[in-house]
Amino acid sequence: DEPTQPKDELTTGALQEGKESQPPTLEGANEFCPELRPADPRHGDFQANGVLPYAKARKQNPRALAEKLVAALPDSLRERFDIAIAGPGFINFTARPAALLDWLAHYDSGARLREGAASTHGGERTIVDYSSPNTAKQLHVGHIRSMVIGEAICRLLEFCGAQVIRDNHIGDWGTQFGKLIWGYKTLLDAEALARDPLEELERLYKAADAATKADPAILDAARAELVKLQSGDAENLALWRQINATSSTAFQQIYQQLDIRFDHELGESFYNDKLARIYTELQDCGLATESQGALVVFHPEHPRFAKQPFIVRKSDGASNYATTDLATMLYRTEHFEADTIIILTDTRQTDHFEQLWLTTQKWYAAKGYRLPEFEHVSFGAILGDDGRAIKTRTGDPIRLQALLDEGIERAYALVSEKSPTLPETDRREIAAAVGLGAVRYADLSQNRSSDYVFKWEKILSFDGNTAPYLLYAVTRIHSIFRKLGLDPYTNTASAATAAGAASAPETEHELALARKLLQLPAVLQTTTEQLRPHFLCTYLFELAGTFSSFYAAEKVLNDSPGIQARRLLLCARTLLFLETGLHLLGLKTLTRM
Ligand code: ARG
Repeated sequence: DEPTQPKDELTTGALQEGKESQPPTLEGANEFCPELRPADPRHGDFQANGVLPYAKARKQNPRALAEKLVAALPDSLRERFDIAIAGPGFINFTARPAALLDWLAHYDSGARLREGAASTHGGERTIVDYSSPNTAKQLHVGHIRSMVIGEAICRLLEFCGAQVIRDNHIGDWGTQFGKLIWGYKTLLDAEALARDPLEELERLYKAADAATKADPAILDAARAELVKLQSGDAENLALWRQINATSSTAFQQIYQQLDIRFDHELGESFYNDKLARIYTELQDCGLATESQGALVVFHPEHPRFAKQPFIVRKSDGASNYATTDLATMLYRTEHFEADTIIILTDTRQTDHFEQLWLTTQKWYAAKGYRLPEFEHVSFGAILGDDGRAIKTRTGDPIRLQALLDEGIERAYALVSEKSPTLPETDRREIAAAVGLGAVRYADLSQNRSSDYVFKWEKILSFDGNTAPYLLYAVTRIHSIFRKLGLDPYTNTASAATAAGAASAPETEHELALARKLLQLPAVLQTTTEQLRPHFLCTYLFELAGTFSSFYAAEKVLNDSPGIQARRLLLCARTLLFLETGLHLLGLKTLTRM
């Protein structure tokens, strides 16, 4: 009897059914073997480790199987790689210098890189729900992770072929409106509203919240405003619309500054008329039951959710976050026909999304709906120096706008110190790229699952894995080309290469840089598979370091045209990969600083 195929099937192309007829190519480096991963440099450029689980499942000798597999590899691959079996059955691939040169010559534009990556997520229709703040409050520092990580994920997935739909799931409906409307009607300072609308709304909410806590009669009044809103009272609906519009205008300014554009802003209120169906369907398929007046879903197989209910309708009959998220799930499946749904929030919502997904799977199975992939991309908190959630001295959350402004101001001081002779407008432009880039990159370069400490000195440093370091590395390569009077994109390096002028990389530093460049496709693949932008950050940081060593060791200008052309080719590709990578992360790059 053939054992059933294990999940981590041997994925080396040559043994996959129907793949034998398509000899793999070096283009994209990862295409011939979807599970190839970059190896420890001592073990070559790539390592295929699928033989071990495959052999284990079949009780075969992995080493013998690896030999069989290697013997079956096509000559075209053998010409390009040194192939060696290591340990119990790993297969190591080391690109030969000529193959490196071919590869570098091929990837001469962002479009080419994109072509190479497009198969990874080709055609997947992916909804990304990110930013998604609640209305009537200012964006504060805690909102930045969802925005910055979400935007990077969108750009990365798009680059890798996915059809991305960006949806800002604004929290524009909910119990806060009872207090807000009560506050608006009784405590409004019209002058303050005209001056700084969001500030005034926030003040009103806080004042109303305090008042409802102090006086049960006011709490009742706030509840009554909410009920009026929910039952369609014209005055309250108009106020609600006005409050949301005010919020939206303020949010838009920051999105624009951070170069974030949504395809949709389907907030919670959009789902109001789609909630009744959720109650009916969940009850019809026996998932939801009444418990103490509420409608709840239990998951008996789950250690916690067997007892801890997923409340889909509150005992007072009102909908909640769970209801709108179930309706959102359905709308994204039915209307957008999403293959994948990704939602970003901080880790505190992990239980909610686990329950949401467990419920969705059972509900869809009962109804025969097509189940999309679902990913809750969660992230930790941003901490201050004291290791606690970052706050202003008065204990309020730091406004996001204030944080961005401070980043730009600090960067301006740095740039003015470094390059005092640059015209003011240039320094302003550089400061914006460096300041905003530093804040963004600080967030992206950390594993999103962990908390991180926010320190200006660290994120604005020109040393280490920071935006200033990487942006500076980019400008250095631009200046190499500028001094030679060459355009790094349509440069003589690539023209010369096409004419065969560049020789294959040869020295230790040339080879190290070429091999580092070769890793980009695999890095993009890991980054988008795990939806963790820090993998790309680490790679870019290493690439910049490898370039630095190369540039310190080798003279680009050389009497031999072949050597000069290949070194210029390495410079041009490093620039292209760094710029492409930084743009995918949402940073603006510069040509001088
Ligand atoms: N508005 C929510 C919050 O501020 C985030 C919404 C995330 N998206 C969702 N579909 N639940 O925490």
